[in-house]
Amino acid sequence: MKIIVSADYIEMSRLAAAHLARLIRENPKIVLGLPTGSTPLGMYRNLVEMHKQSKLSFKGVTSFNLDEYIGLRPGHKNSYRYYMYENFFKHVDILEHNINIPDGNSEDLEQECIDYEKKISDAGGIDLMILGLGSNGHIGFNEPADHFPVATHVTELDESTIQANARFFDSIDQVPRLSITMGIGSIMRCRQILLLASGKAKARAIGAALEGPVTPKLPASILQFHPDVTVILDADAASQLTRLL
Ligand code: F6R
Repeated sequence: MKIIVSADYIEMSRLAAAHLARLIRENPKIVLGLPTGSTPLGMYRNLVEMHKQSKLSFKGVTSFNLDEYIGLRPGHKNSYRYYMYENFFKHVDILEHNINIPDGNSEDLEQECIDYEKKISDAGGIDLMILGLGSNGHIGFNEPADHFPVATHVTELDESTIQANARFFDSIDQVPRLSITMGIGSIMRCRQILLLASGKAKARAIGAALEGPVTPKLPASILQFHPDVTVILDADAASQLTRLL
């Protein structure tokens, strides 16, 4: 595991974009796993800027989003599909047919999960998965539990996640209770992982995930078993690390 501690969010975002850009240049047909949330916004902004300056093309790239809320109407401004188009896809040259996001409005959600896993494997698997981290240690919407979910599945959001995500909604009652998420197995099958975290609110989860016991009670701790993980943190998120610094 390679851990990089940057000064602040701006530097973390620049380093994350540079990491991704290097891999896209090495393999223009790269298959990416992509997160939403506040953490990767700066990285997406940097990537859009690189694209506008004609320094980076996404024409050959295939993407799979990590997760999506269940039950938000199509086009809802809080859906992860909307987020991805607004913050990234519509500003770069990625091809529409190479974009994959779980359908949280599918009439058969169980089948949607099976189909999503099949699409990932038909694409040859994911080369690079980028992850944010919940302050409870979740990755994707794999919440603290007594087991590690193997594949894409429907899951209930933790109360703390609902509260954390309420900041994007008019009221907490509007935050969906369910989502589709890749499983821990889906994440561990990705060839490389880039984990991003910034801010004091993530410091405890980062400390526990990188230095504590591997346990489904802190899902991100499983990344200790992955052979190719890069972690980019800002100083606040790294502030509870001891052994690795
Ligand atoms: C989002 C996702 C979540 C977030 C996590 C951190 O697609 O899968 O695991 O990465 O909740 O969210 P932020 O970045 O908003 O703190």
